[in-house]
Amino acid sequence: MKLMELENIDAYYGNAQALYDVSLYIEKGEIVTLLGANGAGKSTTLMTISGLIKPKKGKVFYEEKNITKLTPHVIAAQGIAHVPEGRRIFGSLTVEENLNMGAFTLDKKEKGDDIAESKELIFSLFPRLKERINQEGATLSGGEQQMLAIGRALMMQPKILLLDEPSMGIAPVLINQIFEKIEELNKKQGITIFLVEQNANVALQIADRGYCIKDGEIVFEGGAEKLKSADIASEYLGG
Ligand SMILES: Nc1ncnc2c1ncn2[C@@H]1O[C@H](COP(=O)(O)OP(=O)(O)OP(=O)(O)O)[C@@H](O)[C@H]1O
Ligand SMILES: [Mg+2]
Repeated sequence: MKLMELENIDAYYGNAQALYDVSLYIEKGEIVTLLGANGAGKSTTLMTISGLIKPKKGKVFYEEKNITKLTPHVIAAQGIAHVPEGRRIFGSLTVEENLNMGAFTLDKKEKGDDIAESKELIFSLFPRLKERINQEGATLSGGEQQMLAIGRALMMQPKILLLDEPSMGIAPVLINQIFEKIEELNKKQGITIFLVEQNANVALQIADRGYCIKDGEIVFEGGAEKLKSADIASEYLGG
């Protein structure tokens, strides 16, 4: 089943068009990656899904419902968690307080149990967060902040995680660790993943399928093997 589908999206910032007729889909249970260079339109695509940007043309479907006109918090409450670029954790709040902020969409009556259950999962994935539970967000390393940002998104028990460049600014060993955890979330928890990346190598290690976006247009798509064998780095990623 198509869990998420974008159909012919045109998006603008003022008069400047950022997305041109973007169509893509993500099936339930998949890891799908969106690859592109700086300014290609990756974050804009994610913000269109989570309702932060309203497209001028086109539709976004989630579980076959048209969610294009819903507000960001209503979209999030359906199980769509967006981990924005650059982490955006709360620097002056502790690890635990940051995680608690992620539970805001949960139903009140089930909140207590769900929060405890989610934290257990997050701490088993990222033991470093448990060790630093009372540490302020701002004092975490870049990799730990990325773990916290993913952890905070998991607090709402999402069906799909939208990850905006989780490898950015993180040392290679830590990138591999984080990507293993992303894969584990997909395989063990059944969370569908839409992974925006510039780092095609790491993204294609865990993705089932992918799309390349260039200057706001989808220019290439296919299974991970097809993407690996194509020279996407020089053709579409400007590298
Ligand atoms: N707030 C904004 N106002 C005006 N133009 C914007 C704004 N945000 C993005 N853009 C433009 O929209 C286009 C797509 O930007 P977007 O942030 O989606 O790219 P990206 O693929 O996420 O790039 P990066 O890898 O650098 O994060 C770019 O040309 C960018 O300059
Ligand atoms: Mg971006």
